[in-house]
Amino acid sequence: VEQSYIMIKPDGVQRGLVGEIISRFEKKGFLLKGLKLFQCPKNLAQEHYKDLKDKPFFPGLIEYITSGPVVCMAWEGVGVVASARKLIGATNPLQAEPGTIRGDLAVQTGRNVVHGSDSPDNGKREIGCGLRGVKCYLNRLVKIWQRGALAKK
Ligand code: GTP
Ligand code: MG
Repeated sequence: VEQSYIMIKPDGVQRGLVGEIISRFEKKGFLLKGLKLFQCPKNLAQEHYKDLKDKPFFPGLIEYITSGPVVCMAWEGVGVVASARKLIGATNPLQAEPGTIRGDLAVQTGRNVVHGSDSPDNGKREIGCGLRGVKCYLNRLVKIWQRGALAKK
């Protein structure tokens, strides 16, 4: 099944928007398959955004992404990559529709709170790079929780 790499950027974490952003993907009905909070090292940020390395804003982008902890997530579902891009909204938050995450929560392109993969192939690549070593702890935790809940009945 298709997966998208969704990353709450440092401004989203610092502004206390983690719950709000996760909630939008949960309510839509996608499945959270992996999650971690971490400080992205410079070389990983450069690898993640390697397609943009020749842009004038690239150094500023790397500084922004590495400026504080980010929340890395793998979300799964049919059509999740394109749908997540719609939920997130346009790159420039001033052009993003109201009702989208950026449209509702941000004003600057350089501080646009969340990243979403732009193709299923990039989804795979980015999950491999951003969630290296995390792989689906959540499934195991849900199973353990369910066993506990059943045992209490
Ligand atoms: P991501 O989901 O983060 O990949 O954003 P996107 O796919 O909507 O845009 P893109 O991949 O083209 O650019 C990646 C990120 O670089 C954007 O989300 C912005 O944070 C930043 N960025 C893009 N264009 C500009 C720009 O013109 N100026 C500045 N300062 N930042 C930019
Ligand atoms: Mg992009």
